[in-house]
Amino acid sequence: MKLKDTLAKDSFNYGYLSKRIYKYIHPYLFRIILGLIIALPVGALDGVIAYALKPYMDEVLIKKNMFLAYLIPFGVVAFAALQGVLRYLNDYLTNWTGQKVTNDVKKALFNKLVHMDSKFYDENSSGIILTRYWSDPEAASKGILDNLKALMSSGIGAFALIGVMLYNSWKLALVGVVVLCIAFIPAAIIRKRIKNASNMTMKIGGNITTDFNETYSGNKIITAYNLSDYQYNKYAKEIHDSFDVNMSLVKRVAWMSPIMYTIASFGIAFVLAFGTYLVLSGQMTSGSLLSFVTSLLLLYKPVKTLGNTLTGLQTIFVALCRTFELFDIDAEIKSKENAVVINGIKDGVSLENVCFEYVENTPVLKNINLKASVGETVAIVGNSGGGKTTIANLIPRFYDVKSGSIKIDGIDIRDIELTSLRNNISVVFQDNFLFTGTIRENLLMGNFNATDEDLERVIKAAHLDEFLNEMPDGIDTEIGERGTSLSGGQRQRVAIARAMLKDSPIVILDEATSALDNKSEAIVQKALDNLMQNKTVFVIAHRLSTIKNADKIAVINEGELVELGTHDELLAREDGFYKRLYEMQFAKSSVVVAE
Ligand SMILES: Nc1ncnc2c1ncn2[C@@H]1O[C@H](COP(=O)(O)OP(=O)(O)OP(=O)(O)O)[C@@H](O)[C@H]1O
Ligand SMILES: [Mg+2]
Repeated sequence: MKLKDTLAKDSFNYGYLSKRIYKYIHPYLFRIILGLIIALPVGALDGVIAYALKPYMDEVLIKKNMFLAYLIPFGVVAFAALQGVLRYLNDYLTNWTGQKVTNDVKKALFNKLVHMDSKFYDENSSGIILTRYWSDPEAASKGILDNLKALMSSGIGAFALIGVMLYNSWKLALVGVVVLCIAFIPAAIIRKRIKNASNMTMKIGGNITTDFNETYSGNKIITAYNLSDYQYNKYAKEIHDSFDVNMSLVKRVAWMSPIMYTIASFGIAFVLAFGTYLVLSGQMTSGSLLSFVTSLLLLYKPVKTLGNTLTGLQTIFVALCRTFELFDIDAEIKSKENAVVINGIKDGVSLENVCFEYVENTPVLKNINLKASVGETVAIVGNSGGGKTTIANLIPRFYDVKSGSIKIDGIDIRDIELTSLRNNISVVFQDNFLFTGTIRENLLMGNFNATDEDLERVIKAAHLDEFLNEMPDGIDTEIGERGTSLSGGQRQRVAIARAMLKDSPIVILDEATSALDNKSEAIVQKALDNLMQNKTVFVIAHRLSTIKNADKIAVINEGELVELGTHDELLAREDGFYKRLYEMQFAKSSVVVAE
């Protein structure tokens, strides 16, 4: 599933969104509601002050009521102090719940991500994944509560002020409310624009993150091929694009506030004129007008916040919707219900009429039939791009076959419980990935229950001991991100030791094609031989010694199994594929590489 195909189709389907968010907020519902209730009086202060102006003007200033003269200022301070306490509680509660919800959503998404299959990672760049799985949920779940809070307190603020206005003069208030409604029309218009711009920003954000990742991982190539300028220009272009998208959003959205203000100013002008007339003709006290006009002026702030909140909420709904779409993406490769748990193998691993393609209508494997009986080693050789690694990818189900089947002891691997399938297979890739951390941590990933004796044994068998003895911290040496501080051969041997520690009955090896020097080559070879002992092995072989020692050699050419037999049998075939391959690759160098 390509992430770029999931771009917030239901952003304004509020019923759908609230149903889905409910699942994440309901554990914290009590605190959320409490927070929102606390927000109510916080918004009401302006209304209270405006309300107090009428008695202050009419009773204190005009009628000289001294009791109220003392009470009103005191009341205002007391209310403000209460409001301060509530504001603190409200901030605390909203942050607490906001972060809890965000964390839950992020954890759930990360859990999805670590269970995704290879196809998902083939189709989506690292940057897009990072943006979608980090920024969107962050923006969405934190923003939604912040905005709800603002919505509540501004809403109640506006409500209180309108109440004061109504109390002072319903006629004038009517004018104010009508103008207010008109002022909100633009907010409804810009929804779609916000969605499109937000989707664009997200895509560009993804590309920018990918630029950073590639600059990191590809730094040697960038240096070697003088690609610094090229990489810089790519980045500069993305930044420029993001500027364009942001500015187009600003252009399309920023007119909203000024228009709202202009409409509102008409309201104020009218109210002033009409209010003066009402006071002069004795239909309204000057206190009422003062209180009314103050309410109207104070109404600006909550209305402006409401406007911003509505725009903000729309951006958040888009992010929220994109987040929920991620929850709907499922790995295609998963365990069936009632899948069989296997523990070891008795008969062997067989590929039966296996066909496969990564991209539709581009067959990569064509009708492959191949079996490794228990304890046997099958070497897979053939032209580059012929499909050897692909065969290795299919056995642990990184991908599923298009037709045909792969069976372990006669059971289709699609009927085997995934964890148990993968527990029974150790894989050593062409290019092995090591994690940031120590060598010990990396080895233990093969088997977290391994004892120190186990570790010692595999370190010896993988010929890592000599090298580890030279390291200052031995097995606890930090190896840097992706194991950058190790040599190619050392990384490979750590990977081999990790596979040995896993000690699975099936071993899949994709021998590195990169030439190691003869000494390292010989050491790696010995390590591999130890790994393959007494296992059922598929080895994609580039070294003559591995090939010769195999029980069977399968020659794959352009996705087809063209020859199958032992080294001697296949060499005996006049004009056979293997014979030609052997002559091209090994005949000259066999003295150096073999044995
Ligand atoms: N993830 C992928 N998505 C699409 N096509 C792919 C993918 N991986 C490999 N291919 C294509 O599948 C074909 C077989 O690739 P594969 O890696 O199996 O070759 P190989 O025999 O292992 O080659 P080599 O000896 O060079 O490692 C190639 O044409 C390759 O371009
Ligand atoms: Mg390969």
